[in-house]
Amino acid sequence: MSSKILTFVLAAGLALSSAPAAANANSHAPNENADHAFDNKVIKKINADRMYNNIALLSESPREAGTQGEYDAVQYIKGEFESYGYDTELQPFTFQEWDGGTSAIDVNNQAFSGEVHTFNGSVNSNVQAPLVYVGLASSEEVGNEVEGKIALIQRGSYTYYDKVQNVLDKGAVGVIMFNGKGQPGNHFGYTYEGQDIPAVAITHEAGLKLVDRLQNEQVTATVSVEDAGTIDKTSYNVIATKEPHKNKDNGQIAMIGAHHDSVAGGPGANDDASGVSAVLELARIMAKTPTDTELRFMTFGAEEKGLVGSYHYASTLSEDEVDRTVGHFQMDMVGSRDAGDLIMFTPDGQKNLVTDLGAAAGSRVAEVVEYGQLGRSDHVPFFQRGIPAALFIHAPLEPWYHSPQDTLDKISKEKLKETTEIVGAAVYRIARPDTPALENATVAPGPVHYEFDDRPL
Ligand code: BES
Ligand code: ZN
Repeated sequence: MSSKILTFVLAAGLALSSAPAAANANSHAPNENADHAFDNKVIKKINADRMYNNIALLSESPREAGTQGEYDAVQYIKGEFESYGYDTELQPFTFQEWDGGTSAIDVNNQAFSGEVHTFNGSVNSNVQAPLVYVGLASSEEVGNEVEGKIALIQRGSYTYYDKVQNVLDKGAVGVIMFNGKGQPGNHFGYTYEGQDIPAVAITHEAGLKLVDRLQNEQVTATVSVEDAGTIDKTSYNVIATKEPHKNKDNGQIAMIGAHHDSVAGGPGANDDASGVSAVLELARIMAKTPTDTELRFMTFGAEEKGLVGSYHYASTLSEDEVDRTVGHFQMDMVGSRDAGDLIMFTPDGQKNLVTDLGAAAGSRVAEVVEYGQLGRSDHVPFFQRGIPAALFIHAPLEPWYHSPQDTLDKISKEKLKETTEIVGAAVYRIARPDTPALENATVAPGPVHYEFDDRPL
């Protein structure tokens, strides 16, 4: 039976069991008690100190995909899974990153001595033309005089997109942008698709010198930009599989994921060492807990580069595996003391089996968890393959999101513990051996009411 049919039957079961209470009273109460007892088998074992220690180790240095920092984290996670007794696979994949490009400037045929930063990666060109200063390049400042010329622009007040577009619309053939007053260096700026003129950045001081020169003489500049192309980098997914008990295998699969990579320069304690610590903790507990469902614990690489690892993993699933997968539970940013309450996000804003299980588990363990609509994490590729999937995250987000301040001291053990309890109870609800298959309505999750929530991020 396909998972879609299972979901349908389960939904029918939910509808039936929400019929008048009298019809249900006898059968429902014992199940609820049994559920609590089963929840306890998993959630009583959750050790928040262990999770916290794992976040401490993982957040010692950044784990940007493709760097040694990621590789060290991957080896650590693999070692942990193995220490719990799992067969663990490292799944490598490549992703491309723009190599930064190279560029140069000539001023009246003399090579410019300062640093030049390239704005755009897809342009290979070399233009020579008179230089004209257009201030901040607002639409009021840019006139027809830039036609056929190179525009000298000061950074600030308007977006890079608007500044470049304003001079491009008036026929400029190149851009030299200098930094704003008090802003150090020249490492800023980019162009957007369709803005195919060579564009570069220089320091504030170098820019002022050019403005000065333009007041006294004609200046002809050359801007050459060369696309150095992209470089291939390698990242990894880490996958630990728990086979179901041999005589109890119901053929179903449940997936529990997080991403181990961080943004460049970010310790990523909450984003997403917290999720990794939860995946590891549930793996540790489930290793010794009999189950009838195959469990796949995984941490993805290159999430921050565009969900690259999870797209790769999802693309390797066969139709049969997709069909047998009853749900994917993604945990991302689940331990911040400064964020809001737990919420379950689906890419289409619709409930599914994972949110049903999560809401019900929440009602037993802490409180009902609401759901909302959002992509932006590794649940998306699974959803796109037709697998019920949801992102468990706290919202609104903490102010430290994607910053160097996303550190261990902002992690709350209580938040970590509660989220892991809820996801653990939800997963165990389908994985425990007394629930042989989801189509059995009498063991379907209790009917809890949970609502759509469009709280801000
Ligand atoms: N942990 C975040 C996901 C997130 C961010 C969810 C903000 C909800 C609100 C994740 O690691 C992330 O930053 N994702 C990227 C998207 C990705 C496609 C590069 C993002 O949201 O910018
Ligand atoms: Zn994240």
